[in-house]
Amino acid sequence: MRRDKWTLKHIISTGQFLDKSLLNVIFKEAHKLEVKETVGNFSVPLKNKILASVFYEPSTRTRFSFEAAMLKLGGGVISTENASHFSSAIKGESLADTIRIIGGYADIIVLRHPQEGSALIASQVSPVPIINAGDGAGEHPTQALLDLYTVQRELGKIDGLTIGLVGDLLYGRTIHSLIGLLSLYKNVTICLISPPSLRLPIAYRRRLKQAGISFKETTALQGVISNLDVLYITRVQKERFASQAHYEKLKDYYTIKPAALKNLKKHAIIMHPLPRVSEISQDIDDDPRAAYFRQAKNGLYIRMALLKMLL
Ligand code: NCD
Repeated sequence: MRRDKWTLKHIISTGQFLDKSLLNVIFKEAHKLEVKETVGNFSVPLKNKILASVFYEPSTRTRFSFEAAMLKLGGGVISTENASHFSSAIKGESLADTIRIIGGYADIIVLRHPQEGSALIASQVSPVPIINAGDGAGEHPTQALLDLYTVQRELGKIDGLTIGLVGDLLYGRTIHSLIGLLSLYKNVTICLISPPSLRLPIAYRRRLKQAGISFKETTALQGVISNLDVLYITRVQKERFASQAHYEKLKDYYTIKPAALKNLKKHAIIMHPLPRVSEISQDIDDDPRAAYFRQAKNGLYIRMALLKMLL
């Protein structure tokens, strides 16, 4: 792996990725690791390194895939999956203090926290690399990396594609991070499909404009579905709503059933960061276009590549 290409110490936001050559390095390494695993030919480059996974919010894929990635590379893992209760946060310790301390025990910290901006704060005090595994409704950059890697693997390219981002674009941090990476590609067209009250925040729309990415906003998935190469749907982020009634009104706004896919191109793919609630009916899981389980698996290799690079 070309370490000289890697100048980032922490991964906090996809805004840190300034050109796609770095993404290609990561994607190549992820693919190499997958091939090595398939033939059972692993070296253990992270022997004696320790990853701390510090999660103040629930997680299945992100935490397990990071921990599995570290173990497969020969490293060790220390972890708290409910840090707001099982760390000294409950005694009133600040995040900054907690990170300083854990940074003395571990070589890298994967942090998920409900507050937007928390990963940045952690990176300012941490003696070791911080990976943002989700900061509230802010960003989730490693998810965006595995999402794009999935598009590249499934469709062979990213330039020139039409990508539909569907659902909770307001609070969906995977969407926010994905916008940052898509801005690096050529001739990408984005359809932002959401209920009116869950539109993509203006800062991210501005970022698309500045990058010269063409996008349109709509509420009607059926009106645009036939144009899409990628249909990326997200869960309405229940935990971010101030009003339960508002959430209840919106939670089933988009539910994709087999009939809804009649007009989706044959070669298109359906993606979801998961967990799904009611957005995608299980009847779709056997459709070859349903890429979401393959997408989740790709997370393991992308995270292995990232750990190798950062350490
Ligand atoms: C996402 C998250 O936590 O933002 N999950 C994940 O990491 N795959 C998406 C979600 O929770 O809806």
